[in-house]
Amino acid sequence: MRKKIVAGNWKMNMNLQEGLKLAEEVDNALLNTSGVTVILGTPFVHLAAVAGKVKSAGVAAQNCASEESGAYTGEVSAEMIQSTGAQYVIIGHSERRAYYNEDNETLKKKVELALKNNLTPIFCCGEVLEDREANKQHDVVKTQLSESIFHLSAEDIKKLVIAYEPVWAIGTGKTASSGQAQEMHKDIRDMIAEKYDQSVADEISVLYGGSCKPSNAGELFANPDVDGGLIGGAALKSEDFMGIVTAF
Ligand code: PGA
Repeated sequence: MRKKIVAGNWKMNMNLQEGLKLAEEVDNALLNTSGVTVILGTPFVHLAAVAGKVKSAGVAAQNCASEESGAYTGEVSAEMIQSTGAQYVIIGHSERRAYYNEDNETLKKKVELALKNNLTPIFCCGEVLEDREANKQHDVVKTQLSESIFHLSAEDIKKLVIAYEPVWAIGTGKTASSGQAQEMHKDIRDMIAEKYDQSVADEISVLYGGSCKPSNAGELFANPDVDGGLIGGAALKSEDFMGIVTAF
């Protein structure tokens, strides 16, 4: 059975006090739910405090350095993230790819460092609108996976969570239809099965991200290959976020 996962990506929102309040609200609400792994993707400076406070939720960083340690002013290493008590790291979010020029080769290094430090990478992939309009989403996602994670052993790739996030749906209010999501998630699972085998593909949770909210989460998550969501805007209010968690 694949894990059902709802991960919040707070992005660059919430000061420390606001973040702790939100984390506490979600954590308390989780006492009444079961069967879903819930993860809070916080800014770096919140990680230790949030990880120290929550009991039922996991904690994720939103990025990590592509180098192990040393003279890289301003960077935060996978080992540092692990030492805060966080268990996950989001890697390759489309905003990192677009605004910070993170390419597939850099992301490959980040994935390796995350695994080396016992963090679960939440690896993001997805096409921009232009690619979707040209019907190139399959090729774009296949290249992203091939160049950043398909070099891993079967044992290692099974440790990953994959998030399919069509870039045209992120923060736009324009959600992929349930059918579009299922089609791409199945496609991603088939790519993994082709590269490894079906049993490996069947173990990896593939999350949907892009304008997921309480009103559409149920329909999206009802698809056989959609194992949960990576949530941006709707992760910033505990009622909205919990509305998605309970959509399963
Ligand atoms: P959104 O963001 O839910 O605000 O569209 C999702 C994401 O960027 O992970």
